[in-house]
Amino acid sequence: MQIVQNILLATHVFGLAIIVGPFILQMRKKEGFATGLILTGAIIQLVTGLAMVGIGEAVLDDDYNSIKIAVKLGIALIVLVGAIGARVAEKKGKPVTPWFHTAGGMAAINILIAAIWR
Ligand code: HEM
Repeated sequence: MQIVQNILLATHVFGLAIIVGPFILQMRKKEGFATGLILTGAIIQLVTGLAMVGIGEAVLDDDYNSIKIAVKLGIALIVLVGAIGARVAEKKGKPVTPWFHTAGGMAAINILIAAIWR
């Protein structure tokens, strides 16, 4: 099961890359945002994050910091709302920037939480 956990972690890192990568590249743009990519990334983060916690706690006897996981989960849900909002706004021809910046900025905060809060 450890190999599955390792693959999930690698996928988790790819997932964050396809949110934060487009965000940094397109931060100053006014249109043409990669909304599909950030939405895919937001879903990958939730699925892989929850799967790692599930397998870690239930099978591998890992002990995660529940408060840190809860905070990351809450922020990941805001990222998802931002990504869905960006996609919908794009389809309706409404301003995408605030949604895009919410998703990208909150994902960046989750990276800081993952790295600094041990
Ligand atoms: C936008 C959302 C997210 C971002 C940017 C993000 C970022 C990261 C990063 C950079 C790491 C690697 C650092 C480390 O190993 O501690 C990581 C690991 C991890 N993340 Fe996330 N994460 C997100 C969402 C989530 C969610 C929603 C969960 C669970 C509910 C989660 C659970 C985990 C777990 C369990 C690890 C492995 C930690 C370990 O094995 O020590 N993440 N995340």
